[in-house]
Amino acid sequence: MNAPLRVAVLISGAGSNLQALLDAEAREGYRVVGVVSNRPAAAGLERARAAGIPALTIDHTAFADRPAFEAALGAALERLAPDLIVLAGFMRVLTADFVARFTGRMLNVHPSLLPAYRGLDTHARVLAAGERWHGCSVHFVTAELDGGPVVLQGRLAVQPGDTAAGLQARVQALEHQLYARVVGWIAQGRLRWQDAGPWLDGAPLAAPRQCEPALACAS
Ligand code: GRF
Repeated sequence: MNAPLRVAVLISGAGSNLQALLDAEAREGYRVVGVVSNRPAAAGLERARAAGIPALTIDHTAFADRPAFEAALGAALERLAPDLIVLAGFMRVLTADFVARFTGRMLNVHPSLLPAYRGLDTHARVLAAGERWHGCSVHFVTAELDGGPVVLQGRLAVQPGDTAAGLQARVQALEHQLYARVVGWIAQGRLRWQDAGPWLDGAPLAAPRQCEPALACAS
C-alpha cells in the first residue's frame, strides 16, 4: 500500500475544520503532518498539539511585508514536505507567486456557494439579500481570491428567522463533512490536477459535485 497522502493545514483561528480533518484521517487515508498558523493565539494550534502533530506559528505581523511573510511560510511548508496544502480558516490573502508554487496542490473551503459571495461576511450578506440557498464550496486555490475551480459544494436552505450565527454553524457542520471527503478523494487517487484543472474519477470535472445534508452526499 502507498504511504498516506501528506497534508499540511494552514489555520488562523478555531480550527474546527482542522479537527474534522484530523478525525477523518484514518477513514480517508491521508495524514496531517503539520499545522501552521499566522496567529499565535489560534485555538486550532492546541488541537494539533493534542493530536501530537507539529504546530507552528508564523506571525505575519512580525514581517515587513507580504513577500517576507510568504518566504517564511513557504520555507516552513517545504520542511513539512506535504503532498497537499489545506487552507482551513486561513485568513491571509496569498500572492499569485506563492499560489503558483503549489498549483493543483492547495485546497480551500469557503462559506458560500461559489461563485456567489466571495470574500468575507458571507452569512450576513446571504441573509441581507434574502437568498433561499446557502452553503459551502471546497475549491482548488488559484491566484484569484475564492476563484479557483470548485470540486464539491454543500447546499442548505435558508430558514425563516435564520441568524448569521445560526447559518454559520449549519454551514460549518457541512464544511466538516465535505472537506475531509475531498482530501480523501485526493488521497485515494480519485481527484487530481491535470491540464490546468481538476479531474475526478478519470474525467475532467466540468461542474462541482453537489451534496445536501438531507440527502446522502455523492460518494
Ligand atoms: C470556516 O467557516 C471557513 O469556511 C472559513 O473560515 C472558517 C474557519 O473555521 N474560511 P475553523 O477555524 O475551521 O473553525
